[in-house]
Amino acid sequence: MNKTILCIGAGYVGGPTMAVIADNCPDYKVIVVDINAERIAAWQSDTLPIYEPGLQEVVERARGKNLFFSTDVVAGIKEADIIFVSVNTPTKTFGAGAGKAANLQYWEKTARDIIEHAESDKIVIEKSTLPVRTAEAMHRILQSNTKGLNFDIISNPEFMAEGTAVDDLEKPGRVLIGAMEDESGQKALETVANIYRNWVPEEKIKKTNVWSSELTKLVSNAMLAQRISSVNSISALCEKTDANILEVSSAMGMDPRIGSKFLNASVGFGGSCFKKDILNLVYLCEFHGLPEVAAYWEQVVLMNDYQEERFVRNISNHMFNTVAGKKIAIFGFAFKADTGDTRESPAIHVSKLLLEERAVLAIHDPQALKYAKLDLADCEGDISYEVDPYKAAEGAHAIAILTEWKEFRDLDFEKLYASMEKPAFIFDGRNLLDHQKVFEIGFNVYPLGQKALSHL
Ligand code: UDX
Ligand code: UDX
Repeated sequence: MNKTILCIGAGYVGGPTMAVIADNCPDYKVIVVDINAERIAAWQSDTLPIYEPGLQEVVERARGKNLFFSTDVVAGIKEADIIFVSVNTPTKTFGAGAGKAANLQYWEKTARDIIEHAESDKIVIEKSTLPVRTAEAMHRILQSNTKGLNFDIISNPEFMAEGTAVDDLEKPGRVLIGAMEDESGQKALETVANIYRNWVPEEKIKKTNVWSSELTKLVSNAMLAQRISSVNSISALCEKTDANILEVSSAMGMDPRIGSKFLNASVGFGGSCFKKDILNLVYLCEFHGLPEVAAYWEQVVLMNDYQEERFVRNISNHMFNTVAGKKIAIFGFAFKADTGDTRESPAIHVSKLLLEERAVLAIHDPQALKYAKLDLADCEGDISYEVDPYKAAEGAHAIAILTEWKEFRDLDFEKLYASMEKPAFIFDGRNLLDHQKVFEIGFNVYPLGQKALSHL
């Protein structure tokens, strides 16, 4: 087995993962390929295609030494014996399972490319999140080759989160590697584990069978999202009572059996994974004749839709039951802080609902304006995009905070208030600001799951 690694798919998962592998494994040559030439050119430049703290440095240390970006998929397949596949697996928009099941067409095409161009045995590693038992189908497709080649399939899902990708990859909570239980599968598992052993302690390398590994990825995301939906559901109850969601979350989180992480109430969770993976889990349960299990998990997504809709209803209710013709400054469009990614961002749904109510939107985000424009390209209505937050708020009736960018806390709220229409409102969809402070400046403040601070 040679020490060349290929990764097919240079996206949010493939790019950072391979950069960290190359940086930590000087003995390996790592080639990252993608069909998108523009993306590859960006990986080769000073402006990487994704914004991720610390990534530029890692890429620069390894690029040209043992990390290479290319569009030549065929040459990569011929050269490498270890192939990571991290092409996207979006939710199907057509046919059976539309809206829930994963679209595996890119994965299958990649498997067929590997068969067509391989000249030696390969280990093919699922980095993309896939429905349980995809490995089985892929193994069958790969083994159908008529060249007498052996293909081992490994499931090695990635658990890093955007915004902290480099840290998560350098110090992973665990590296999960699932393999077939036969001798060849177990040997392949060790080959993959040996890559990670360059920097990950042995006790963090978790070996399972391939189906457990595939399912763990879906369920980990479902469990994380379920915590947010649970807390968000209680934020609605807090607003009806005198309970405060911050107090409830922190007191609840002190129980080590519950834990303190992922209990921040928000306008909703976003990102490329949570919704897609839960719906995938729901589809899997329905397919296997488990409607109660499917309905249980689907509720996590429905609660998220509810939270986004509730946020918009609150805005409208508190602004005298209409936002038509009123300018609303949207602060934050990315699905979370420290990323320019807007996939499934709650800001998309919230903005569309506000536009349906004929609000005028001025959108500001430190990193995500490019994608915000694309996300709202088909929307009718009055939308502007502002690099300067003070311009976004000029003449606005309200500020809605949709992403927890730390820099929003340091804005000059006196200056913002002075330039806005009165009464001026703040709807804090991330409980980010010092509410008392902005209230004292004159704003009517509506946090999530806490008492409103209103002068009205
Ligand atoms: C995606 C999924 O969102 C995630 O659930 C999965 O675990 C891994 O794949 P991400 O890296 O964020 O993660 O996706 P994306 O940024 O869209 O990257 C996928 C890349 O694959 C794109 O750059 C695309 O051009 C490339 N691709 C896609 C190929 O190179 N070949 C194909 O046939 C299809
Ligand atoms: C997630 C998983 O965390 C990661 O392990 C997996 O590999 C990919 O999916 P990511 O989508 O990048 O990562 O971000 P994450 O930090 O999980 O946040 C997801 C969404 O939940 C964001 O919109 C975030 O703002 C929201 N969130 C998170 C909350 O609303 N409240 C919280 O307490 C935590």
